[in-house]
Amino acid sequence: MNQVRMSDGRLAWLVRGNADARAVLSDPRFSSEKLRPGFPELSPGGLKALTYFAPFLVNMDGPQHAKARRAVLGEFSARKVAAAEPEIQRIVDAAVDDVLAAPRPADLVSLLAFPVPTRVLEVFLGVAAEDLETVERNTGRMLREAKTEQDQRAAAAALHAHLDTIIAAKEDNPGDDLLSRQIERSRQENGGVVDRFELASLVQLLQIAGHASSAAMISLSVLTLLSHPDQLARLTADPTRMPGAVEELLRFLSITDTGPLRLALEDVEVGGALIRSGDGVLIPTLPANRDADAFPDPDTLDVSRVPSTRHVAFGFGAHQCLGQNLVRAELRIVLATLFRRLPGLRLAGGVDEVPFKYSGQFFGPTQLPVTW
Ligand code: HEM
Repeated sequence: MNQVRMSDGRLAWLVRGNADARAVLSDPRFSSEKLRPGFPELSPGGLKALTYFAPFLVNMDGPQHAKARRAVLGEFSARKVAAAEPEIQRIVDAAVDDVLAAPRPADLVSLLAFPVPTRVLEVFLGVAAEDLETVERNTGRMLREAKTEQDQRAAAAALHAHLDTIIAAKEDNPGDDLLSRQIERSRQENGGVVDRFELASLVQLLQIAGHASSAAMISLSVLTLLSHPDQLARLTADPTRMPGAVEELLRFLSITDTGPLRLALEDVEVGGALIRSGDGVLIPTLPANRDADAFPDPDTLDVSRVPSTRHVAFGFGAHQCLGQNLVRAELRIVLATLFRRLPGLRLAGGVDEVPFKYSGQFFGPTQLPVTW
């Protein structure tokens, strides 16, 4: 445990050990309500955009959080995801068909890593892939491109107007999907009126939490396996290793290394340090997942590592990732299908030539040129 200076000059605690990370993430004395005064901000004014949306899950505490979570938990249950696996396989097969049909070198980011999570979210949410892409673009405008508060407000208004149309269309034409069920729940809870503002926040959050993260995990997993040929050979020689390999890739890559963040509501002792009420706390997943006390030889990728659920790639405790069953299934299916159908897959250039993005919540390649 040590303290770091945030962009606004304040100090916040940086949790590095695996046991300490799990202690903080499972302790209700650490709040997730990001609009509380003093909540740690990674960039100045970075939390401002949250004021344009209804609070949802990542931004709630206690009974309010538990109730909101119960309302959507079943949508991503292991049973639901298992039932959707044939559909996910069809989506992945179609994307791999596109890779095979593309001229070489082919870019796995635009042909596979981006479209697969969008199509999968389309199925689960019941929102068309093109609409989800527009939500993603408008959110980028609001969070990254808007230079003034006025621009940010305008971008948020455009986002809401678009989401409003999506929800209105779904009210008229419900289906067997998350959004239709949430519309019905909202109607029942609000005396027959649908709270579109709340539902817009739900769709936006799921797109933001679910797309860029899964896309980054897919491209980074492929890149990591291609640059660890011994590990890839072990995996392809014994496909039963796949579930363990996915856990290991989640641990090794730890893509949410800029979060989770919390605010201490009371004085709490963690790992020998006294965190005071009002202190900000950062729990990046990478150091917790590379802690030698939890994972021997932690900086080595080992797809045969005894599968361990001690990693915190999906967080831990009350806010643990809602989409984790889905991510696991998606990664298993993508990696198994890709390396089975393109056994000669290799990078078109050197690892050092792969272009990376450094903005946004998750790092990852902007392009992944491959050949076979
Ligand atoms: C590789 C992909 C993903 C990673 C690494 C990831 C990681 C995480 C982490 C670390 C948290 C905890 C945040 C905290 O404690 O403050 C979280 C929460 C969450 N994730 Fe994911 N996630 C991924 C994909 C998804 C997907 C596909 C969805 C849904 C479609 C999703 C929905 C959520 C939601 C709704 C929460 C908030 C849960 C709550 O606060 O109760 N995530 N995720």
